[in-house]
Amino acid sequence: MRIALLGYGKMGKVIEQIALQRGHEISAKIDVSNRTEILALSRENTDVVIEFSSPESAYGNLKYCMEFGIPTVCGTTGWLQHKPEIEKLCVENKAAFFYASNYSIGVNLFFELNKTLARLMNPYKEFKVSTNEIHHTEKKDAPSGTAITLAEGIIDNLTDKTTWINNQIAAENEVPIWSSREGKVPGTHTVKYISDVDQIEITHIAHSRHGFALGAVIAAEWLNDKQGVFGMNDLLGLK
Ligand SMILES: NC(=O)c1ccc[n+]([C@@H]2O[C@H](COP(=O)([O-])OP(=O)(O)OC[C@H]3O[C@@H](n4cnc5c(N)ncnc54)[C@H](OP(=O)(O)O)[C@@H]3O)[C@@H](O)[C@H]2O)c1
Repeated sequence: MRIALLGYGKMGKVIEQIALQRGHEISAKIDVSNRTEILALSRENTDVVIEFSSPESAYGNLKYCMEFGIPTVCGTTGWLQHKPEIEKLCVENKAAFFYASNYSIGVNLFFELNKTLARLMNPYKEFKVSTNEIHHTEKKDAPSGTAITLAEGIIDNLTDKTTWINNQIAAENEVPIWSSREGKVPGTHTVKYISDVDQIEITHIAHSRHGFALGAVIAAEWLNDKQGVFGMNDLLGLK
């Protein structure tokens, strides 16, 4: 496939290596310095765009791709207030759009474990839930998209939780997400249930960016010839 990379930073570079190893061609590499080159991308010269840029640029990039009907896999976090609009454009233009807050297979299994644990904990109100995420110091958004997905999994399954809150003491109806930024950490997420007498804790630790990048390339291969809006549950056959 001819893959155009929108965003050629830490993730874009690992995606390039993996895509080449899997026999694909990188037909464009676009970052801030050459960002107007997006205007040259079309359905005719690009099989799929893989977008890992920044929270500020993702919306404009995705709007362009959807308006021109270019199948797009996006991993950028921190722009999700615009996601309904991008999904609408995707449908209107018969394009294909794949989004995941986290492309690692392990994290997506962790998401399922998190939902199951929340369902199990629902009757046991003596346990107080909290989550935390640690990322490298260059990460621009907080909380991480992965932490938000975990919080949403808890909110959908714990009846007394209706929303999440970041880096502040939580009210009864809020799931606290504590974010910290340290060194070069690729991504660590923990969900804890603490009672007066004991504690249950599940943690996912990414050892490198390889798992995210491989998942994004697999999603791009899977998206080929599809139309519509998709996510990891479609790719992995999860509910
Ligand atoms: N979903 C997942 O599995 C997953 C995993 C890891 C990271 N992420 C997310 O992916 C995004 C990128 O992460 P990263 O670690 O690669 O960040 P990064 O190293 O900062 O790279 C971002 C890249 O985007 C470029 N960029 C900025 N504005 C642009 C624009 N208008 N058009 C095209 N490119 C533009 C930057 O260019 P310059 O270098 O010239 O500024 C840089 O090359 C972040 O939102 C991060 O949270 C998602």
